[in-house]
Amino acid sequence: MSTPAGPEPGYLDRMLTMEMVRVVEAAAVAAARERGQGDEKKADQVAVDAMRRELNNLPISGRIVIGEGERDEAPMLFIGEEVGLGGPEVDIALDPLEGTTICAKNQPNSLAVIAIAARGKLLYAPDVYMDKIAIGPGYPDGIINIDASPTENLEAVAKAKGCKVSEISTCVMDRSRHTKLIEEIRRAGAAIRLIGDGDVAGIIHTTEPDETGIDLYMGIGGAPEGVLAAAALRCTGGQMQGRLILDTDEKLERAARMGVDDPQKAYSMEEMAQGDVLFAATGVTDGNMLRGVKFNQGSAKTHTVAMRSSTGTIRWIEATHSNVEKFPSAT
Ligand code: FBP
Repeated sequence: MSTPAGPEPGYLDRMLTMEMVRVVEAAAVAAARERGQGDEKKADQVAVDAMRRELNNLPISGRIVIGEGERDEAPMLFIGEEVGLGGPEVDIALDPLEGTTICAKNQPNSLAVIAIAARGKLLYAPDVYMDKIAIGPGYPDGIINIDASPTENLEAVAKAKGCKVSEISTCVMDRSRHTKLIEEIRRAGAAIRLIGDGDVAGIIHTTEPDETGIDLYMGIGGAPEGVLAAAALRCTGGQMQGRLILDTDEKLERAARMGVDDPQKAYSMEEMAQGDVLFAATGVTDGNMLRGVKFNQGSAKTHTVAMRSSTGTIRWIEATHSNVEKFPSAT
């Protein structure tokens, strides 16, 4: 008797891309019920619970490398937690609710986000800040440089785009640590979109400037969010660099324990997310690229983007979950 043929190479990754969609949909639907309630912790907790439940239904041996925090501070989806039913060994970066404050205030661009890659292919970034610069696809390699001044980066992008610096729009987080950066961008004549939270979305928005009005992202946000954004850009094309901000002995030691041997290193997008990367995000609140969850008489509509770096396929998935009470496990 002949042995049944196993799955084609890559089959599992293709299946996983669709399974990941359920994971982010579930987290987004759970968080969406808490939109505007002013309770960031609760919104995050319900998203974590839903995402964890769905991850534990997947045929993978998954290990969280970017999660809710370190084991002693996060009871679920902590760094190092193993998830899944068993199967291919993969590393997972996730944020069940990226933009907890945004969700609690029901403002634009909060997301449920996940990225999956083979073991060891995602940067084990400690939960510290990261200086980031990112741009979407279609530019010559090396167009952005984290070590150049904001003005130099803006001029290089304008030149490559064939426009004036005043026609370039830069997304920056509205934080006092960015006072000088914002002043310099304004002095250079470029437009600025200041965002209150959610720099994963801010960076992804550079990939569709015609839709989002954002060409370039600059500034300091979370390092875990940096790895997630790098995974997304690996799939869409684009360029990104990030440098960890390790400004205390404690952070230096923590980073060293996670394998960071050069604290000054500028990581390229490829160093943050290597090999074949899968990425998915579902809108929780309405945003520039993803619509938020809509509830209607017992059903929920979700809007998700799912992408894969090896093929460059980008899927926009609108789903109607007709029995939202049973969602997600029964869909
Ligand atoms: P949370 O979802 O954990 O609230 O993170 C939101 C966020 O705005 C990220 O997008 C960003 O990278 C980080 O916080 C910035 O941190 P801070 O609020 O300390 O400036």
